This record gives sequence, C-alpha cells and structure tokens, in this order.
Amino acid sequence: MSDLNKAALVTGGTTGIGLASATALADQGYRVFVTGRSAQRLAAAVEQDPRLEAIATDVSDPAAIEALSARLKAEGVTLDVLVANAGTAETTVFGQTDVAAFDRTFDLNVRGVFFTVQTLAPLLADGASVILIGSIVSIKGMADLSVYNASKAAVRSFARSWANDLRARRIRVNTLSPGPVRTPLVQRLQGQADGSITGFEAWAAEAAPAGRIGEPQDIAAVVSFLASDAAGYVNGVELFVDGGLAQI
Ligand SMILES: NC(=O)c1ccc[n+]([C@@H]2O[C@H](COP(=O)([O-])OP(=O)(O)OC[C@H]3O[C@@H](n4cnc5c(N)ncnc54)[C@H](OP(=O)(O)O)[C@@H]3O)[C@@H](O)[C@H]2O)c1
Repeated sequence: MSDLNKAALVTGGTTGIGLASATALADQGYRVFVTGRSAQRLAAAVEQDPRLEAIATDVSDPAAIEALSARLKAEGVTLDVLVANAGTAETTVFGQTDVAAFDRTFDLNVRGVFFTVQTLAPLLADGASVILIGSIVSIKGMADLSVYNASKAAVRSFARSWANDLRARRIRVNTLSPGPVRTPLVQRLQGQADGSITGFEAWAAEAAPAGRIGEPQDIAAVVSFLASDAAGYVNGVELFVDGGLAQI
C-alpha cells in the first residue's frame, strides 16, 4: 500500500539491481519513480510492478536530469530516498582504451551520479537518505577494468563529501557496493557465447565465502535498510554487499 507522503527515486530502475530496489521500496510504502533510457524497458518495468512510475531520463545528460527535476518539482514531489544506481561497465584493456570508452563510463558513472544528486538535492526532504550504488571494484584492481574501477572509487568519494556537504539538512549519504550480482549488465559483460553466465557464477561461488553469486534482491534488501530509520546513524560509509568476496 503506497503512502504518498513518502517518495523515492531510483535511477536505472528498469532492470537488475535498480528494479529490485524500486520494488523493495514500493513494498516499504514509498511512491517510487524509476528512470532509464529505453522506453521498452521502462514499460516492461511498470508491467512487472505497476506501482512504479517511469520517467525516461538519460542521466549521463545533465540537461535531461534538469528536465527530470523540473517535472518532479512541478508535481510537488519531495524525495525521501534517492538511489543513484544507473551505471555501466565495459572492458577497458590498459594500453588499448580510447577516449570514447573512457568517457562512456565516466559520463554515466561519475558525471551522471554527480549531477543526479546535485540537481535533485533541492527536492530532497530534510533527513532524506541518498544511496549511491558503487561496487567492490572501488577497492580492487580488477584486470582490464581500470576505468570502471576508478569510476566507482569516485562514487565512494562522493558519499564522503556529500555526507559532509548535506549535514545541515540531516541528509545521510551512503555508498552500497555490491559484489557480483546476476543482472543484464553481468550477462553483457561476462556472458558466454550461449548467453549463460555459468563460468562467472562458478567464479563468484568460489571467490565469495557466501558460496554463490548475488541476486538483485540481496542488494535491494540493503537499499531498504539504508533508506530506513533503522539506518539513521549510518552515514558516509561504503557498505559492501558481496557475500564477503572483497573482504577476505
Ligand atoms: N551486476 C553487478 O554485478 C554489479 C556489481 C557491482 C556494482 N553494480 C552496479 O550496480 C548498478 C546497476 O547495475 P545492474 O547490474 O543492475 O545493471 P543493469 O541491469 O544493466 O541495469 C542498469 C540500469 O540503468 C539504466 N541505465 C543505463 N544507462 C543509463 C543512462 N545513461 N541513464 C539512465 N539510466 C541508464 C538501464 O536502463 P536503460 O539501458 O534502458 O537506460 C537499467 O535500468 C550499476 O551502477 C553497476 O555499476 C553492479
């Protein structure tokens, strides 16, 4: 049952971690907005969970974020939770990475997160929770991923700074850093020729004490926690949700 006094926005909320998080927040009673670029994926997300309200927005385009902000403002929306989740990963072999590949990752993962939070900050309620979706790669030197790794280190840094910058409004800013999670992104990046990810799943099961790959719901549960009053004294952290993979 939606409590229209509480609202949340999840960028990249149409598949994977974002969609699971949006559904978990709707379960908690939030009115939930999701963004994404593809009209087809936006429609599919709403079909899967009709409680979600879809707004087409490319968060790598600062002007599009301005338009999103203007639309929410016109509707009188105040956000209690903002999940900056939209992100991408691609292989960037050191020595062979061109400027376009570098920019694709940084335009979305770094500039997109920065302008998402800065532009929507005036719509945040005092005491709101901002959750940045990082990655365990913020503290790892995963091979052939140096651009992605660095982008997520920047995301983690933003949470430190903004927890400080937004303290007067009691807005908490935390980074949630997943390990490997079964999503379309992983299928694109790690999928085998037949589309399966069995090899990647086996690696994750071996590498993580949890003994398995993560599921989007594993991450969504922690998004719900960070959004909630139970996390009222959790601020500026990087919370790893990785089955222990990066911790051992
Ligand atoms: N899966 C993992 O193992 C894993 C691990 C650590 C961290 N993460 C992080 O978790 C986040 C979500 O990843 P995921 O695995 O759930 O990926 P995913 O399934 O590919 O979902 C990405 C979402 O972001 C949207 N998106 C992509 N580019 C966008 C843009 N420019 N503007 C707005 N929306 C955009 C996608 O929709 P459209 O394509 O239609 O725009 C989709 O809704 C990312 O930040 C990723 O780095 C994932």
